[in-house]
Amino acid sequence: MLSNLPKSARIIEVGPRDGLQNEATILSWKEKLQFIDMLVAAGLKSIEITSFVRSSKIPQMGDAKELFEAVSKKDYFSSISTPCLVPNMKGMENALALGVKEIAIFTSTSNTFNQKNINATIEESIERFEPVVKAATQNGIKIRGYVSTVFGCPYEGETSIETLKFLLKKLQEFGCYEVSLGDTIGVANPLQTKKILEQIQDEIEFDKVAMHFHDTRGMALANILSSLEMGITNFDSSAGGLGGCPYAVGSSGNVATEDVVYLLHSMGIETGIDMKKLSQASELILGKLKKQSPSKFLNTYLVSGK
Ligand code: HMG
Ligand code: MG
Repeated sequence: MLSNLPKSARIIEVGPRDGLQNEATILSWKEKLQFIDMLVAAGLKSIEITSFVRSSKIPQMGDAKELFEAVSKKDYFSSISTPCLVPNMKGMENALALGVKEIAIFTSTSNTFNQKNINATIEESIERFEPVVKAATQNGIKIRGYVSTVFGCPYEGETSIETLKFLLKKLQEFGCYEVSLGDTIGVANPLQTKKILEQIQDEIEFDKVAMHFHDTRGMALANILSSLEMGITNFDSSAGGLGGCPYAVGSSGNVATEDVVYLLHSMGIETGIDMKKLSQASELILGKLKKQSPSKFLNTYLVSGK
């Protein structure tokens, strides 16, 4: 145990997108911009900004245009990674019109989840990505990939490792520089995490894999530790532990960035993130949403200042 830890790890902050997409209180793009500014000030170098999806489905992302335009005018824009979710060509056209420099395409190992989430089967999602990827490649836009329900689906239960392997192959053929493996409903455990990574290690290099744990059952940090031991160094997380997908009933927040950073820093693994500034960003957004954080680190910090 704990014999194979890296010197540094990379955090992909998904708070402005995954963190907010399920929140009923609709924030203004100016409030989200302030949150993103503070995340940048905290040292986050990869921040998922928004989604180009139907606002009737995800109302919180209805200001994608205004928010992205504002972010793209910031001095920091050229020096950080700002992926935006794109499900189809319509979303890609909107993204292209704004000069998006990185997209994230997303599918799932479960047909039922995919149907509910993006109104497409797994095969149809791949077909939809083809023109999206072509347009991205022609325009020099980087592509990140997501596979949801890797550790279990709210509708189908266990999902197929062969389907995961198929999707990893496709997403790499599409030129995704990284594929994020989603524990969409927070059912993963550390042994399962290790076994799944062992089963896919011949399909993808681990520096191209990110782990995306939701913390529904309090297992995310244990799963991150298991992933670290397997050689993974890229982790998606959300400031303050906000998050959830409207099409994954019962799922709760993403693992809190604060808890991940505390885990990593306390074991001597660098992230380049300033905990104090990160906590201030979370405090701001939680205040706007009038919500308590599930993050143990953040709640201790807000009380004690340490
Ligand atoms: P659809 O209904 O299949 O689309 O939506 P359609 O092609 O049939 O078109 C119907 C209407 O939607 C048309 O408008 C289109 O123009 C419009 P109308 O002619 O009726 O006025 N339309 C769009 N409008 C804006 N943006 C678009 C778009 N596409 C079509 N991109 C779609 C398909 C995928 C767009 C829809 O189902 C949708 O928006 N779903 C929401 C998906 C989503 O954001 N889910 C949450 C993120 S995924 C997640 O959280 C998991 C993750 O975190 C990892 C993990 O945790 O596992 C990533
Ligand atoms: Mg998610």
